[in-house]
Amino acid sequence: MAVTINDRKYSKSVSENRTLLEFLREDLYLLGVKEGCGEGECGACTVLMNGKTVNSCLVLAVEADRTVIRTIEGESKDGKLNPLQESFKKHHATQCGFCTPGVIMSATSLLERNQNPAEAEIKEAIEGNFCRCTGYRQIIDAIAEAATLLESEVKK
Ligand code: FES
Ligand code: FES
Repeated sequence: MAVTINDRKYSKSVSENRTLLEFLREDLYLLGVKEGCGEGECGACTVLMNGKTVNSCLVLAVEADRTVIRTIEGESKDGKLNPLQESFKKHHATQCGFCTPGVIMSATSLLERNQNPAEAEIKEAIEGNFCRCTGYRQIIDAIAEAATLLESEVKK
């Protein structure tokens, strides 16, 4: 398969029953992609495929052939957190951190199509991401503030 992941092109052979999650974690060592339930229930394995969120545990690696994948590893550049990640830090929206990569990818997808989301839209965007630590308030506040920052950057 040929796939672009975090701006890098890969050409690899994979067995047809290998999941995208296994491919990312075990073949490419992109360990920010977390394995929680393995059944599409927790969102820990969320990545972007052609700009849309997918549970990588439910996608076969071969289905990602000729797609563009983004994982949390590609979101910071030159060791610098992006505005959304900075906002998570500021709002203490990460506690144990297990859910965070998936939540960030879901929020990224939201903010790329909607720079001014209502709280209900934020909640909807992350409804597939299970967080057992934060109670979600800090996560929602972090995404809302990042949206405000990004919107003001766009207007500059
Ligand atoms: S590990 Fe994929 S949704 Fe839980
Ligand atoms: S921060 Fe622990 S599961 Fe969300």
